Amino acid sequence: MYGKYNRLVSEFKKTYPGVEPTYCIRVPGRVNLIGEHVDYNGLPVLPMAMEREIRMLVGPLSNNSIRVHNTSPQYSPREFTISNNITPYSTGDWGNYIKAGVQGIVNMARESVKNDKFHGFAALIESDLPPAAGLSSSSAMVVASALAGLAVNNLTISRQELADRLAIAEKYVGTMGGGMDHAAILLSAVGSALLIEFFPLRAATVPLPRGYSIVVCNSMVIAPKTEAARRSYNRLPIECRLAAMILRKEATALYQEAASARRLADLLAFVPAGQLYNLINQTLVGKEWSKESVAIALGVSLSELEQEYLLMGDGQLFPQPADGFLLAERMMHVIAEGERVRASVQALEKGDASQFGQLMNASHASCRDLLHISCPELDKLVDIARGAGAVGARLTGAGFGGCVVALVPSDQLSQFRTIIIERYYNEYLKQNRPQLYQAAQALGYDNIVLASTPQSGAAVSPLPGGLAVLSGT
Ligand code: GLA
Repeated sequence: MYGKYNRLVSEFKKTYPGVEPTYCIRVPGRVNLIGEHVDYNGLPVLPMAMEREIRMLVGPLSNNSIRVHNTSPQYSPREFTISNNITPYSTGDWGNYIKAGVQGIVNMARESVKNDKFHGFAALIESDLPPAAGLSSSSAMVVASALAGLAVNNLTISRQELADRLAIAEKYVGTMGGGMDHAAILLSAVGSALLIEFFPLRAATVPLPRGYSIVVCNSMVIAPKTEAARRSYNRLPIECRLAAMILRKEATALYQEAASARRLADLLAFVPAGQLYNLINQTLVGKEWSKESVAIALGVSLSELEQEYLLMGDGQLFPQPADGFLLAERMMHVIAEGERVRASVQALEKGDASQFGQLMNASHASCRDLLHISCPELDKLVDIARGAGAVGARLTGAGFGGCVVALVPSDQLSQFRTIIIERYYNEYLKQNRPQLYQAAQALGYDNIVLASTPQSGAAVSPLPGGLAVLSGT
């Protein structure tokens, strides 16, 4: 009766006696091909949805409880009730991604669901998407949980609107991410990469070169969601915003319209890139940026600066980094990375794999040297990947660990895989990071060197008794 979900359905029924599963939700991970840390600046990105995914079986509950079980024992069950303001678990708890999705649905449907009578749900989750690897397992969980909330409450929404809303909803967990992940997860199309543009959200498919494969290799350095990692990530959007607002102030003297800019992409609409580079050189380069000097440059008081720019979702103030705010480097990266994304689209439309590969390589160098989000393991893996035949290789996702994405001639795939396993895992990691090597052995290479073709976005399949949720394609 339930076709390919039979096994999961029988486990669901054992876990939740008396609850009927009515939906199966499939949410893919994403790999970003190029365009790192540009989304929250309003510049385009080029990811694709991959084969690895989260599957969630969902059944409605008559009350407002949310109950989630994960088939992986690493994630113990969570249960909470729906309210207008759901209190988060402690930082890093996997249940916060479920709560973020549910809170997002509550926020969006408050008006249409009478008296806040939201139905809760019971869910059983299984996943083959590696966590903390820069492949958006967290956003996939947020999307899955939101889709479950929509499904059991008979709410429909367009994919686009959901992507927009969930990008905001995920801020619940304390990271100040952009909109790439939810858009890639929800809007991707099978067989193509996706050019995503922001404010307003738009997406268009881009062909990948024939005869080449996308391979994702896990460095095994975990990019966890701890307090410290959250700070390392949040530092970037904060610095980008500070830098863009200082540049706005300077640019307004030359281009009045620039006064309305809210982020770097808006400035680029009014100020030619060459002129903006000049402003960066004159205003940002060669200075040590403290809270005080930033406040002076922006013409605000220290407390205005803190309230407007440094106050985090949890009410804490973002501390001044020990090496100061790195404003010039961030801007240099973001402007050039945005240009690389546009150039990549042109190269891919012409089928020019080698040009695209060079842009990927340049993106990695910039992530390493200007954003400082690489690490020795990622750099090593990128080098080995290039030596093993990749025409381009770079870190992918937020950085600080996680995966490398490589563009590899398909007829060299098997040789590529052998060289990566030998030189990165069996030599480099074994010698330098024995624990990570052990972890790789435990996972198995089929789970850490992944050739992936582009997949379609998340889907909700009604099982007997369920209704459609997502409108549009
Ligand atoms: C994380 C964020 C995204 C994006 C990337 C870096 O995945 O969630 O919005 O900023 O990092 O490109």
